[in-house]
Parts: sequence; C-alpha cells; structure tokens
Amino acid sequence: MERKKTVLLGVTGGIAAYKSATLASMLVKNGYDVKVLMTKNAGNFINPIVFETLTKHKCLIDTFDRNFEFNVEHIALAKWADVVMIAPATANVIGKLAHGIADDMLTTTVIACRRCRKLIAPAMNTEMYLNPVVQDNMKILEGYGYEIIQPAKGHLACGDTGAGKMPEPDVLYEYIYREIAYEKDLIGRKVLVTAGPTQEAVDPVRYITNHSSGKMGYAIAKVAAARGAEVTLVTGPTAIRKPLFATVIPVTTAREMFEAVREESRDADIVCKAAAVADYRPKHVSDEKMKKSDDRMALELEKTDDILKYLGENKRPGQFLCGFSMETEHMVSNSRAKLVKKNLDMIAANNLKEAGAGFRGDTNRMTLITAGDETELPLLSKEETAAKILDIILEKTSK
Ligand code: CTP
Repeated sequence: MERKKTVLLGVTGGIAAYKSATLASMLVKNGYDVKVLMTKNAGNFINPIVFETLTKHKCLIDTFDRNFEFNVEHIALAKWADVVMIAPATANVIGKLAHGIADDMLTTTVIACRRCRKLIAPAMNTEMYLNPVVQDNMKILEGYGYEIIQPAKGHLACGDTGAGKMPEPDVLYEYIYREIAYEKDLIGRKVLVTAGPTQEAVDPVRYITNHSSGKMGYAIAKVAAARGAEVTLVTGPTAIRKPLFATVIPVTTAREMFEAVREESRDADIVCKAAAVADYRPKHVSDEKMKKSDDRMALELEKTDDILKYLGENKRPGQFLCGFSMETEHMVSNSRAKLVKKNLDMIAANNLKEAGAGFRGDTNRMTLITAGDETELPLLSKEETAAKILDIILEKTSK
C-alpha cells in the first residue's frame, strides 16, 4: 500500500482556529495523515482533544511534553511532514518565524522543516494585517520560501470589515492538495479544459440547457493543475467553486464557448472537451418575455458551432484532443464514430444508463477509446477518473 501523504498543521491563537478543525477533518477524510501542533494561546480558542479525535494523533503544544513516540519530536516531525500549513497564523507567529525565534513546539518544528513546502494562512484584524511590520515580516517569509496565502475579505470577529479573514477550509485544502496530492508529471504542458452546460436564451426569462454539473471537467482541471500543468478552464454556468490554480474563463452560450476555446486552444498541448455543449439554439431570441397564447408552440432551432469538430480540423501537430461522449445506447460504436469524424486522439465515453455514470453524481464509469485501444475504467470518483484520463494522455504523448 502507498504511504499516506503527511500534513503538519500548525494552529495558533486566533478565533479562526475553529475552522482548522474542519480542515483537519477534510484532510483525514481524503486520506492524508495529519498531525497538529498548537501554540499555548490556540488552546484558548479550541481544545486539542478536537484535533486528537479527528487525526488520531496527539496534538502537541509543549516542546517538553515527553509523552510521544520519538525522543526529539520537533526534528522527527519536521522530517515526517510532506507539507506544513499554519492556519490560522497570527501576527505573532509570523513575526517569530520571520526572525528565527523558536520558543515553543510549533515554531521549533517549523524552523526545523527545511525539506518541505511551508504555507502560511494569516488571520487577524485588518489593522494588524495591514501594519507595515506584519507586511514586512510576510515578505521576509516569502524570501525564505514560505508561501503566504492571501486572507479573505469580509466581516471579522472583532466587528470590523476588511482583509484578514482566514480562507475557508476547502480553499486551504486545495493549497495542500496542489502541493502534495500528485507527482508533478505535467509540468510544462498547457491543458485546456471545457466544463459544464451551455445556456441558449429563448427570451429574457428562459433558456435551453442540459443536466451537466461540470464536475467531470472541473475534476480534470483540478488534477491537471495539481500535476503541474498550466490549466485554462472554459466553463459554462455551474454551481461548483472555481479551481484556484487554473485560469477560469466563464461563458454562457455555445457561441461564447466556441470563441474562448478557439482563442485558448492555439497554444494548448492537451484539450479535454468535457463540456456538454448545446447542439441547437433558438434561431430567434425574443427581446420580450414570450406570453402564452395557443395550446401549442414551436421553437425554431438552429445548429450551434461544433467546437470539437473545429478543434479536430485545426489541430496543431503534437496537440492531443480528447472529446467526451455520453450515450444511452451503442456507446462504443457511436463514440468511435465521433473519434474518427472529429479527428480526435481519444474519446472518453460513458453510458448514461449505467449506475454511477453520467450527470451530477461524484462517480463515473468511463471507457477511454483511442484509435487502437479501449480502456474500460471501473466505477471511480470523478477525480480518480480525471487522473486516469490524464495518465493515458501522458502515456500517449510521451512516446
Ligand atoms: N461538442 C462540441 N460542440 C458542440 C457539441 C458537442 O464541442 N456543439 C463536444 C462535447 O464537448 C463533447 C463531444 O462534442 O466533447 C461529444 O458531444 P455529443 O453532443 O455527444 O456529440 P455529437 O457529435 O454532437 O453527437 P450526438 O449529439 O449526435 O450524440
């Protein structure tokens, strides 16, 4: 079995410490081994038992606590961690680390961490955050190779409004994920992904769309970015949070998606067209809300641009084009026909009628079809499916 990836989470004395419990829980649920270090003051905001219960490891506060597995715990922990995150990081801990002050378990351990990446999530009152001494200390830390995660803006616990809020746990999770979830085997590749549905207006109130949630395309963008690729995501309207480490271009209609893709595909090495693009749009979009009158009504539709076909016709040498195909019958033969017709290198096909495949859910069961191969993937999460799709693309483009 693969060794679990390891996260050292430092929690210091700020009110946002309560959110770090959610972060620890999220990390554990996603298969990471997490150990938490707290400062004494953090104990005023959250009890170490919370972290111990979530992580199944002792939460250390005191450097001289002898109740642990190793003799020189701060050094052993520093060597153990694949990544360190301090969240929330107070002005005090930022100042100490910037100036090499190591006077408790957390600071001694972090200063002993030379091998792994160190991420700092400052959280404090806006006036403190904007104080030049804190700003200078953060610059010093950046100079030493720490990454400072920008705090969010909003209502702060003290009643003020401004910058200084700790980002939500899912945002912090994505920073850790980017650091350690995958080997960086896509560095130097530009990946263009499309995701989600398109919306084609009928009148100012109504539009034609489909059930696409965007989850499959977003998973590809997220995994590709975590593997080191430079990712652009052209996305139709979805309810999912945009990935942090991709350039995101939001579009609404098939026409807008076509224009964005035409532009972005010029220098893309890999294109994954997971979006569910409308094949037809209303020929006339009414300026006014259409009123109901007769018992029946008909909408005249016209074809949209077939974006994938355009990409196949304009493929650069060396560019890899992966289409997606959702079928309800004859999945392989229909998809193979699209592979040929649209000049694709691969088509990722699924059968909407199979349990666990298709729209909205978090799983998929795909068959990856190339000119010479067919790889049937088992039922996997959309993220695992994304990783397999990228594995095969990497294999096909590395020869
Ligand atoms: N696609 C596209 N532009 C369109 C329609 C579809 O780029 N106007 C892309 C989708 O992003 C997907 C692939 O084509 O990668 C397959 O879509 P699908 O609608 O299933 O294929 P079609 O060739 O349109 O065939 P059919 O609708 O008859 O199944």
